[in-house]
Amino acid sequence: ASTRYEAETSPATCGGTIDSNHAGYSGSGFCNSTNADGAAAQFTINSSGAGTATLGIRYANGGSGDRPANLVVNGATVQSAGSYGVTGAWANWTTKTVTVPVNAGNNTIRLVATGADGLANIDFVDF
Ligand code: GCU
Repeated sequence: ASTRYEAETSPATCGGTIDSNHAGYSGSGFCNSTNADGAAAQFTINSSGAGTATLGIRYANGGSGDRPANLVVNGATVQSAGSYGVTGAWANWTTKTVTVPVNAGNNTIRLVATGADGLANIDFVDF
């Protein structure tokens, strides 16, 4: 079974606003990051053991181009400029899966935009 970490739920942080104006999100909202290179959303996920784990990152991108982001786990970039491609509308959500190294206990998962449009809208991370 996986655990869902909502972007709007502390200790997660959102470099932007928590919005709820595009249907289909989980929980009470999603992270709409600032439209800027370096805009970030951060999650703290707990792992029972060390090893590799698959994250499911749910996002929507109703813009006209990719919203690439670095995926930074415990301070190390594990995916550079990963693609968060267009989903056709802001209410069209999809889940990107990425396999990452994790430590036992708490892990910091940070998405950092590498383009001027900032991040796609980020709903949650399943771990
Ligand atoms: C629109 C949309 C936002 C989105 C933004 C963007 O304003 O309503 O949810 O985040 O575009 O381009 O980033």
